[in-house]
Amino acid sequence: MSVFLGWFLGLVLMVVVAVAESAKFDELFQPNWAFDHFIYEGDLLKLKLDNSSGAGFGSKNKYMFGKVSIQLKLVQGDSAGTATAFYMSSEGVNYNEFDFEFLGNTTGEPYSVQTNVYVNGVGNREQRLDLWYDPTKDFHTYTIFWNQRQVVFLVDETPIRVHTNMEHRGIPFPKDQPMGVYSSIWNADDWATQGGRVKTDWSHAPFIATYKSFEINACECPVSSVAAVDNAKRCSSSEEKKFWWDEPTLSELSLHQSHHLMWVKARHMVYDYCTDISRYPVTPAECVHHHH
Ligand SMILES: *[C@@H]1O[C@H](CO)[C@@H](O)[C@H](O)[C@H]1NC(C)=O
Ligand SMILES: *[C@@H]1O[C@H](CO)[C@@H](O)[C@H](O)[C@H]1NC(C)=O
Repeated sequence: MSVFLGWFLGLVLMVVVAVAESAKFDELFQPNWAFDHFIYEGDLLKLKLDNSSGAGFGSKNKYMFGKVSIQLKLVQGDSAGTATAFYMSSEGVNYNEFDFEFLGNTTGEPYSVQTNVYVNGVGNREQRLDLWYDPTKDFHTYTIFWNQRQVVFLVDETPIRVHTNMEHRGIPFPKDQPMGVYSSIWNADDWATQGGRVKTDWSHAPFIATYKSFEINACECPVSSVAAVDNAKRCSSSEEKKFWWDEPTLSELSLHQSHHLMWVKARHMVYDYCTDISRYPVTPAECVHHHH
């Protein structure tokens, strides 16, 4: 390869990575509500919750498959009663949703991360972890990876949940609706902290969630109402086009990732709908064949 070509490819690669990794908030997102609860501070975006309002933003575009990440530092100190969410969601009654919810706690008690997956408008698939680090001290990366085989929730590259495509067993899998990307902070003291027993202490407001970087590396869907089936086709690999998220190696977790997930489940999971017998006397179908 000529020096020039090598230099040129390096440059192209650099540009692509730069666009994917450090897109500015404004390029990808817009505030959805409570514009006056957004604080822009250089590279940082802060969302404020006080006794008048929370705040939320959403992506300008909708996507199918790929990867979405944010770097987030959660409310410090007493965050009891607050909830901060990062999720992807489609629209309509049969919406699909992939959900991270960060549930605050009293000072010194661990934050919990609840994940959920909605398929055709139905959720009730909660899992909850206590994190292995203090998510209020530093920025950590929260990622949703999605392809036709699986939805993976990751924390700093460690998978904490996998929702596997089991359509071959007749279980619907979300792969036919474009999704927006959203984040918000709000008062959830009716349920969030210690089952709703601990309420938000407004004397500690404002509660601030801080965002540093945003990455969306996914198949963008036209805003106009293109039929879902056409979007699905456009965003799937074919003879002519290959998408990175359809690589065979990404059709399931690597061995290394599976081990990490096992560690997370053994050491940090505090609730799993799959094993909640009082709620589900019959184990939900998608849990039965989960080997991870
Ligand atoms: C909200 O908080 C502000 C500032 O702390 C306070 O002055 C105000 O009375 C509060 N309003 C309500 C409805 O509690
Ligand atoms: C808050 O702390 C309590 C006590 O350590 C813990 O049981 C609970 O899971 C934590 N998280 C939430 C969201 O209540």
